[in-house]
Amino acid sequence: MTAEILGLGAYVPERIITNEELSEMVDTSDEWIRSHTGIGKRHIIADDKTTSDMAVEASKIAIEKAGIDSSEIDFIIVATASGDYSNFPSTACVVQSKLGIRNAGAVDIGAGCTGFVYGLEMARGLILSGSMKKVLVIGVEALSRIMNWKDRDTCVLFGDGAGAAVLGLNESGDGRGIIDSFLGAEGDGFEHLMRKAGGAKHPFHSNEYQEEDLYISMNGRRVYGFAVKINETIINTLLQRNNITVDDLDRIVPHQANIRIIQAAASRLNIPIEKFFIVIEEYANTSAASIPIAINAMQERGELKKGDLILTSGFGAGLTYGGNLIRW
Ligand code: UT7
Repeated sequence: MTAEILGLGAYVPERIITNEELSEMVDTSDEWIRSHTGIGKRHIIADDKTTSDMAVEASKIAIEKAGIDSSEIDFIIVATASGDYSNFPSTACVVQSKLGIRNAGAVDIGAGCTGFVYGLEMARGLILSGSMKKVLVIGVEALSRIMNWKDRDTCVLFGDGAGAAVLGLNESGDGRGIIDSFLGAEGDGFEHLMRKAGGAKHPFHSNEYQEEDLYISMNGRRVYGFAVKINETIINTLLQRNNITVDDLDRIVPHQANIRIIQAAASRLNIPIEKFFIVIEEYANTSAASIPIAINAMQERGELKKGDLILTSGFGAGLTYGGNLIRW
């Protein structure tokens, strides 16, 4: 028995900000952004929408593709660092309400860009334990709302969007589903990627923070080094403990943070770059939404078939990391 993805959906806002537009806002250029990150543009949430609205759009598609009624969902996991409220209440509860799903459990998880990878494994555990039958896992970010648009170190990197998956039990014995996941964290690095103000440590009503602490801050070089190292660990671990080689994989779906991080992983592991599915040019880094948006794009382009073996690889704030091995 496995827990399998029954349906997947994604949503990105229509509004796009190009690198050229950004270069009118901060001291940057299309050439710098493309050559240092591979990013060409980013989708930005409409002024009258919020995180839960994007989550709902992606979820409706996932539920429809799963061929179930939304009332069958008994648990909702929302992975986000930019929820409707600052954790209180969870965005998952707002999503439950907007989808009109009564009584389903609903919780947010904060695992940064690794959130969707974590969410899939948590859903697998709930399903295989028999505790839940249908679990909705969403990775969603409205990072534009917590980004410092005057800080060129971060504002060129991120975008908004959502990806959602409905998981359920596969008893057919065909092996399709989540085969294995590898999850971890290097908590000592928690200060390298964070939003400092607003929690119990620096409450909004205190005066112990600067204006820039209201936004995402990142030690880019430190996170870059971590990302290059950890991608290698994730891919090697999942291959080794499942007794497979990279040739057995149809595709690797990496977190889309920086094309140079993906190229470094490919080169260190001696894996052809074509094995990695890359959509960073179009969407930029959508954090917890990046992996489901990428899998969805792969499916829409006809590059993901039933029975394919794929491996996800993510890293992010925490510093968290993880990957899933999935028979599609
Ligand atoms: O998903 C969450 C995890 N986040 C990440 O994975 C991000 C990981 N880090 C990175 O991807 C890269 O470190 C960055 C893209 C953030 C930065 O790229 P880099 O090649 O490491 O640049 P750098 O920080 O070494 O800066 C190189 C130069 C500096 O100028 P000097 O000191 O050489 O004169 C920066 O001031 O580039 C400058 N710079 C910029 N120039 C134009 C930094 N940001 C920009 C910018 N436009 N936006």
